[in-house]
Amino acid sequence: MIHLLLLLLLLSGATNGRDFTIEEATIDDVQRAFTEEKLTSRQLVEYYLDRIESLNPVLRGVIEVNPDAVDQAERADSERRRIDGGRPSLHGIPVLLKDSIATDDKLNTTGGSYALLGAVAPRDAGVVARLRNAGAVILGKASMSEWYHFRSYDIPDGWCARAGQGLNPYVKGGDPCGSSSGSAISVAANMAMVSLGTETDGSLICPGDRNSVVALKPTVGLTSRAGVIPLSPRQDTVGPISRTVSDAAHVLDSIVGHDPRDAEATDAASRFIPTGGYAQFLKEDGLKGKRLGVVRHPFLKLSNASSRNSIFEDHLRTLREKGAVVVDDLEIQNIDVILNPLLCGEALALLAEFKLNLNNYLTELTASPVRSLSDIIIFNQNHPLQERTAELGQDILVAADATDGVGEGERRAIEMMEKLSRDGLEKLMVENELDAMVTLGSDASPVMAIGGFPAITVPAGYDSDGMPFGVFFGGLRGAEPTLIEIAYAFEQATLLRKPPSLTSITLSCM
Ligand SMILES: *[C@@H]1O[C@H](CO)[C@@H](O)[C@H](O)[C@H]1NC(C)=O
Ligand SMILES: *[C@@H]1O[C@H](CO)[C@@H](O)[C@H](O)[C@H]1NC(C)=O
Repeated sequence: MIHLLLLLLLLSGATNGRDFTIEEATIDDVQRAFTEEKLTSRQLVEYYLDRIESLNPVLRGVIEVNPDAVDQAERADSERRRIDGGRPSLHGIPVLLKDSIATDDKLNTTGGSYALLGAVAPRDAGVVARLRNAGAVILGKASMSEWYHFRSYDIPDGWCARAGQGLNPYVKGGDPCGSSSGSAISVAANMAMVSLGTETDGSLICPGDRNSVVALKPTVGLTSRAGVIPLSPRQDTVGPISRTVSDAAHVLDSIVGHDPRDAEATDAASRFIPTGGYAQFLKEDGLKGKRLGVVRHPFLKLSNASSRNSIFEDHLRTLREKGAVVVDDLEIQNIDVILNPLLCGEALALLAEFKLNLNNYLTELTASPVRSLSDIIIFNQNHPLQERTAELGQDILVAADATDGVGEGERRAIEMMEKLSRDGLEKLMVENELDAMVTLGSDASPVMAIGGFPAITVPAGYDSDGMPFGVFFGGLRGAEPTLIEIAYAFEQATLLRKPPSLTSITLSCM
């Protein structure tokens, strides 16, 4: 049945509005179509709602759609008719939010857990308030996969994916990666225009890498974490997932900035926000004169696929041709320690921080069936089928609950991560006068996580089985303008993203 639905959708084509193809359209394309009156925000939102209805029963990237999305789109349409020019770039654009980002509306914010179904957030998350100010439409919430949340769907279980986690739209059985899996799947499959995800360590970059989309992990503090189900404010960050670097820059522009509810971090990072915003760095010659440090060890060894490695060599050639200076074969000091969360201190610190911050988040909810991590553990015990407790376990939750605040051990762990970052990426970048480090895939995420550093992944190719992978650019805090220049110029020189065909997926799910 699903197969038929998909077929109909594919046959009916991807156009809506007049002479305008929505599938794969960018924000700039859509804004132009709005201005030329070839498209309304309502048509755009209805297109995505149709796509979700047809594809989501299989792909499971969306956990809830916003019953008010069409109304919000109509409001944007009528505002646009009144305002001449000067609209924010996200005006009338539907945005899908990871289910950990709170909204003060009809949508639930559950972190993908049944434990939080029915919880009421006191207000919109800081980033959501910014989106609404920009006139964006909240399309719905994206599914996610994490330690403590595996909320399943009101559709038969065990179809194609594990309950609660979306399906890779490119390859049968391919892992879409988490935890912002739904945010990436939905954008990849054109069920959403753009989305927000969050990252503590790899949760934006990894699903971006695996789903042939762009994911931008901002410097910690550049985007407010207020109202986002937390792990650790030391590492958590909210960022865009999109099909193009240009869309990521527009979304970033609309969500960065000071938030009194996340004051210290957003204050400190606000000095990084460029006057005139991020879109000015979308330059086709953005690679000219950039010094890029290639870090192969151990990231290129981790992926066995030799075709990947030869594609990577092609990309390095492209980067050089476009004017970059490629400094090859650099190594990050202590990389084996950094990549081991038990050795670098990350696991120890995160366990204690998670408990503290999650409990704070739960306490501040206006209403909630659970008020603490302990409550969630008990909920999981009492709802073993819904939460698949036996299969997935909750050892990490139990270990976190056994911690007692950030003490001497945790402080030492945090100092160790700071030192590893200084001797690691910071030293590498400074000594080689780099604008960015470059590697393949998402395995470098811990390097960025423990330092609060930004990174971006851009579609870079597909394995022989069709599994996508991305090229990874990382920099020091505040490097977003440079990363956007580099990523955009690379993207424009290669244009490797292609939408999933989806037919193989449907057949495999019958
Ligand atoms: C939020 O959860 C409640 C309880 O399951 C459900 O009735 C409601 O439809 C959900 N809201 C949306 C927008 O899906
Ligand atoms: C790499 O190849 C080896 C031997 O063929 C295999 O055991 C291993 O699982 C592969 N690793 C990855 C990451 O694919």
